[in-house]
Amino acid sequence: MSPYETLKYEKEEGIGYVTLNRPQQLNAYNIQMRDDLYEILKAIQADREVRVALFQGAGEKAFCAGADLSEFLTAPSPVIARRVRWQRDVWGLLLGLPQPLIAALHGYVLGSGLEIALCCDIRIASLEARFGLPEMGLGIIPAAGGSQTLPRTVGRARALEMLMANRWIDSREAWRIGLVNRVVARDELVSVARQTAGAIASYDPMAVQYAKQAVIKGREGRLKEGLALEKRLFRRLMTARNRTNIEAGGSTC
Ligand code: COA
Repeated sequence: MSPYETLKYEKEEGIGYVTLNRPQQLNAYNIQMRDDLYEILKAIQADREVRVALFQGAGEKAFCAGADLSEFLTAPSPVIARRVRWQRDVWGLLLGLPQPLIAALHGYVLGSGLEIALCCDIRIASLEARFGLPEMGLGIIPAAGGSQTLPRTVGRARALEMLMANRWIDSREAWRIGLVNRVVARDELVSVARQTAGAIASYDPMAVQYAKQAVIKGREGRLKEGLALEKRLFRRLMTARNRTNIEAGGSTC
């Protein structure tokens, strides 16, 4: 039995599987899920055996239908509900994880669900998935990074239309605008996501993590700075490799 109320966490052959597990509520993100996710992300961060993490949703209908509306309705106000959510920086933790993160997306991928997906490095969706940020309907804006991560992924105009007009899109459009890497049949989603995770887990974890760092950190600055970062990471990787070779009695390159 999972020690977590709202999530399942399993580890197998270098892959950490995180399953949002409130299928009756379409895996809506509540405060308990925030706490559970925080614990699991901390564990992944500290676990050298986890080379890649894969996020998925339990049940047939949704990856995640966004923030739990029943908590919004019971909290004194949406503002207070949001404040409680910020007490633990799940989103900062998610964005800062050194390991690659994959999201396997099916059904509804809304609000915080889309924001979790946007924090991942690779997004694979099933054909029937639908994506949206319904915050406008609640009179609020995203608070888990969506207003920043979405335009950085799909561009300003498309992000603003999804946000301001509450426009939901299907998988084909999500693929066309670069929101997801790949679209596959529903019954292939798990195997394709696992294969992708398995491929990443088969490579040198340091090289994989440096590749992630080079791309993500490099994009934050100018090209010149990005190139300097790539050089530094390359040298660091070579130094580590040479040290390992020497320790193993092999030759250096
Ligand atoms: N928070 C809490 N419960 C939710 C939820 C949410 N965000 N989204 C769905 N649920 C619950 C429903 O209340 C329902 O529970 P019930 O069976 O006890 O009545 C169950 O999940 C199934 O949802 P339902 O609305 O019956 O499914 P549907 O197929 O008719 O519609 C959606 C699916 C996603 C279109 C609809 O549930 C919806 O609009 N959800 C809210 C999305 C949203 O605004 N999220 C907040 C973003 S900030």
